[in-house]
Amino acid sequence: ESLEKGGFEHFMMKEIFEQPRSVRDCMRGRIFPLEGKVELGGIKQYTDKLKNAERIIIIACGTSWHAGLTGEYLIEEYGRIKVEVEYASEFRYRNPIITDKDIVMAVSQSGETADTLAAIEIAKERGATILGICNVVGASIPRVTDAGVYTHAGPEIGVASTKAFTAQVTVLTLIALYIAQHKGTLTPAKLINMLTELDTIPDKIQLLLQDNDLIEGIATKIKDAPNCLFLGRGFGFPVALEGALKLKEISYIHAEGYPAAEMKHGPIALIDEQMPVIFIATKNSSYEKVISNIQEVKARKGIVIAIVTQGDVKVKNMADYCIEIPDADEAFLPLLATIPLQLLSYHIAVKRGCNVDQPRNLAKSVTVE
Ligand code: AGP
Repeated sequence: ESLEKGGFEHFMMKEIFEQPRSVRDCMRGRIFPLEGKVELGGIKQYTDKLKNAERIIIIACGTSWHAGLTGEYLIEEYGRIKVEVEYASEFRYRNPIITDKDIVMAVSQSGETADTLAAIEIAKERGATILGICNVVGASIPRVTDAGVYTHAGPEIGVASTKAFTAQVTVLTLIALYIAQHKGTLTPAKLINMLTELDTIPDKIQLLLQDNDLIEGIATKIKDAPNCLFLGRGFGFPVALEGALKLKEISYIHAEGYPAAEMKHGPIALIDEQMPVIFIATKNSSYEKVISNIQEVKARKGIVIAIVTQGDVKVKNMADYCIEIPDADEAFLPLLATIPLQLLSYHIAVKRGCNVDQPRNLAKSVTVE
């Protein structure tokens, strides 16, 4: 088993460190930056249907649902198609309005999640085109969908999803840019720019893995907190949700992910000197607004841990701890900002003596209702 862990103490750590390669594998043969082109052979025959769709519904559970939420932000921004993201477990039981004009995308690492499979069946009965985004080749979901895109992250053993999540986000990024390319919602020049930058993301992930020791140090400081809040806006919001899920899954600390601006509508009541608040505070369109949210937390003596863009000074002066990530187009923020949060959860869980690869009460794939 230690051989399988590639020298790491846990599968989760191995899988976190595999992400430069898994994200690269996911893009291999699919992006052509110099030509500003994305090719997705698996869904090629549905290109017209996809670009003309009035609505895309993404169905998933857990971490895959968080990837789906990044898909909503990406596809709406770049492909200009209305997207709804649904929990498969809710969708399947609420008589959803679906027509043959809809495209349903099912996102699943395992391809075996019972609720996602049941939701696919309902969408199918109502005539929708079903596309799958799946990691396990030949699993049930790819077998029942009309077409799809594999994430190619390789086997994920740790129960807490890490590299499968970033691969799902990568595929959804590719789909958003693929739609933009075919619909003309992005200019060829902008597509070239974005794909050129996307091509550098695996190297940037590699760079930020070097912060592992720094993040372990921060974990030592907050490992005994009973609660944690994760806040982000825009592309940082799904990252906050995923950060919170990761922490609660493996460390058993109660954690909530929230849109930063929603803090004042409730969670602000929880903030005191015991409460670590993890902010996604990178330089993007919501930077200034997140700064005012940080000030609100500091005014109540909360402990601020901020994920910031390399070279940031403003947030550094306010936060208790900062983790820098390389600068990038905000569309790629989820692919970068997620990594330090995975490491933070990992170290907190290890320091609390938890079984990070097999957390209590959780199964790798939930094949029952
Ligand atoms: C991820 O860390 C979780 N263990 C869980 O939320 C998971 O993402 C969910 O059960 C969905 O699984 P799937 O991607 O295999 O469908």
